[in-house]
Amino acid sequence: MTRYVFEYFKSQTVETLRSEYTRYTALSAADDQSRHRHLQPRQILLDFLSTRMIKKLLKDLSREVAIWRGWDVNDVLMQMLPTPRIYTPRSHGTSIHCDFWYGHGENYLTIWVPLTDLVAENSFQICKKEHNRNLLRQFITDFDQTLNQTRYSGKFQPVLPPVGSAAVFSSTVLHHSLRNKSDLTRVSFDFRIGPISDKTSTKRKENFLRLSSDNVLHESDQIKEFRFIKYIRGGGIIDTLTQHVLIEGVARARELQIVGQEAEVERFGFPVLQQYLTGKCHVDCDGLIISSTSILSADALKACFTTNIKVYFCLESLTNWSD
Ligand SMILES: [Fe+2]
Repeated sequence: MTRYVFEYFKSQTVETLRSEYTRYTALSAADDQSRHRHLQPRQILLDFLSTRMIKKLLKDLSREVAIWRGWDVNDVLMQMLPTPRIYTPRSHGTSIHCDFWYGHGENYLTIWVPLTDLVAENSFQICKKEHNRNLLRQFITDFDQTLNQTRYSGKFQPVLPPVGSAAVFSSTVLHHSLRNKSDLTRVSFDFRIGPISDKTSTKRKENFLRLSSDNVLHESDQIKEFRFIKYIRGGGIIDTLTQHVLIEGVARARELQIVGQEAEVERFGFPVLQQYLTGKCHVDCDGLIISSTSILSADALKACFTTNIKVYFCLESLTNWSD
């Protein structure tokens, strides 16, 4: 069954998000010593979205939308990290799609929050209700038509929520964005919420938080207490810089502690890893954080699941223990 929800959702929380973003960017620009000074707008937005205050506001907004939809807030999942969008003049947008195609549950809702001024040309377009079902059917059998955005322009409308409002729409509603023909950069972010009972989601649950009735972060905090050594393997097929970037980025997003780093000997086997896994190494830590299972041999990987220390694999969001 195709669900169609598309609403502008007015909320003080949306106003607060926008004013906090304005304040955050002004502070970044004003502070000459700030590490933000040379950062791109995308990085500033990523920093902004990863603050605890914003996470709290996103939970507030998720609860408001869930209550509006009549959902039990104790049984709602929320995308942990929102998707940032910096849509500069002349940049290309996204082809026609619905979020269900990308793995989100059929009952999920996307919450889209603009942080800067909108005009029709720098926003995105959403399919009108009367056309959504037929176009979904058509595109599934002729997917190349999703690239043919101008052909279907009459069946879509620009999304222009008033200031203080977010756009909320079903995962089964088609949408896209055309080339930004305005001279305004649009900064926005979006994230998804959905009922736990919706088993049609293919997304990893580790990337979703459960909303709690007391409106505080409800994720398991146990992992944040562990002290990890960053483990890098050179000489393999995966670049070491990429391993660093991945591990540091994941640690930052998930608020994991890295207390040191270790590189593997490159000439024979995995002797350094073995020292950690067998407890011979006396470094004060709880375990290792590793970029991916794919940098290890089958035997080394197997050893990671028979050790007493913690091992966390970033790319797979995989732990060798259960909470
Ligand atoms: Fe989308």
